[in-house]
Amino acid sequence: MAKTDTIRTIKSCRRLQGEVVPPGDKSISHRAAILNSLAKGKAEIDNFAPGADCLSTVRCLKALGVRIGRKGSPGSSTLLVSGTGKDGLKEANNVLDAQNSATTMRLLGGLLASQPFLSVITGDTSLRNRPMGRLIEPLRLMGAEVWGRGRDSLAPLVIKGKKLRGIDFTLPVPSAQIKSAILLAGLFARGSTVLYQKILSRDHTERMLKQMGASLESQGNSISLLPLSSHLTSLNLRVPGDISSAAYFLVAAAIHPNARIVIKDCGINPTRTGIIDILLAMGAKLKIDHERLEAGEPLADIVIESSDLKGIEVGGDIIPRLIDEIPVLAVAGCVAKGKTVIRDAGELRVKESDRIATVVNELSRLGARIEPLPDGMIIYGGRPLSGTEVDSHLDHRLAMSLAVAGLVAKGETVIKRARTAQVSYPAFWQTLQQVVKY
Ligand code: S3P
Repeated sequence: MAKTDTIRTIKSCRRLQGEVVPPGDKSISHRAAILNSLAKGKAEIDNFAPGADCLSTVRCLKALGVRIGRKGSPGSSTLLVSGTGKDGLKEANNVLDAQNSATTMRLLGGLLASQPFLSVITGDTSLRNRPMGRLIEPLRLMGAEVWGRGRDSLAPLVIKGKKLRGIDFTLPVPSAQIKSAILLAGLFARGSTVLYQKILSRDHTERMLKQMGASLESQGNSISLLPLSSHLTSLNLRVPGDISSAAYFLVAAAIHPNARIVIKDCGINPTRTGIIDILLAMGAKLKIDHERLEAGEPLADIVIESSDLKGIEVGGDIIPRLIDEIPVLAVAGCVAKGKTVIRDAGELRVKESDRIATVVNELSRLGARIEPLPDGMIIYGGRPLSGTEVDSHLDHRLAMSLAVAGLVAKGETVIKRARTAQVSYPAFWQTLQQVVKY
């Protein structure tokens, strides 16, 4: 694989083989940094996600007065967080910048609405175009004073923090970011907060809050939270590997004719394992080994080999369990025999790029027969792919999905603006090189 600035060139290879240790889970890392910043005491967070998104959260927390460092060398993957406890967060002396990270903006948005000072939070061009009304509306029901551009629908957000009141609220979209934002606000509110989810989304916030001593109960589709009576207790943890990052190697091995990859120490929280369920249903030779629980989160090793995939219909309640894996699932659909239909995934339109449009356009360039739907796509699998120039649209998940497609395409696949993979998986290209055998 040659590297020229942000261009990556991928060639098909004879074999894919090796062990992959995915980076620390991005969703869990954001939460570990934020919740430990509020706690009393010091925490060590091992295997903290190395991508730019979680570094945005760390930078914002530091600007809010939290002492955060690295254990040992500055490049160490262990984050040390000194919780602010009763002193609380401090007003930042400048605009907070979440860059490309919606999780940073939305989770901190909820938290800051409950803190007694003013905050302004912005992001990059992509994030400033993503929906924030879904955050502002429930926070206002709690009494928050939050404003945004575009008649309170877009960032930058201005947040005049104050004492909030708990709410009973049904989440209109199955978004873990909005759920978490409301729970963070609810920690400091007057009265309890009760949330109903029509469809379950990732539950890392709930698990971690319980581990840290919050009074939170989740039962079926509802969550109830009491405001903090004292402080959260800091939580030392080792973050499990990110299944969303592992997904590139799961699909790569499944679609390649000569492959065996072992993914080590990978998170398998059931709210995140839709990609495993779908690959198995498509006929993947996939095995889960050595299951265990660490800091309230399940993890395991996953072994996957070359498989004869068949097309599948994907929709309904499984979508939030694999929403970030749909770009790479589309690549699996291109290679599978028969038709793959993805529906109920309109949320893809408001991710780092419009992932229905960008996935369809870029995979079409590689020769796939793929059609957009308003809420998904139809992929007619089994057509050979051939390498050409494609673009990441500055969307990390698209860049890595195109690399996986390139492994089975004829000739060279040239991915422009590929550096964006560093948003979630800075070592992706290096790891790929290690498993590719020519
Ligand atoms: C995330 C939730 C999901 C997901 C995102 C991370 C989180 O977004 O797509 O990559 O960590 O809470 P939504 O909450 O918008 O569904």
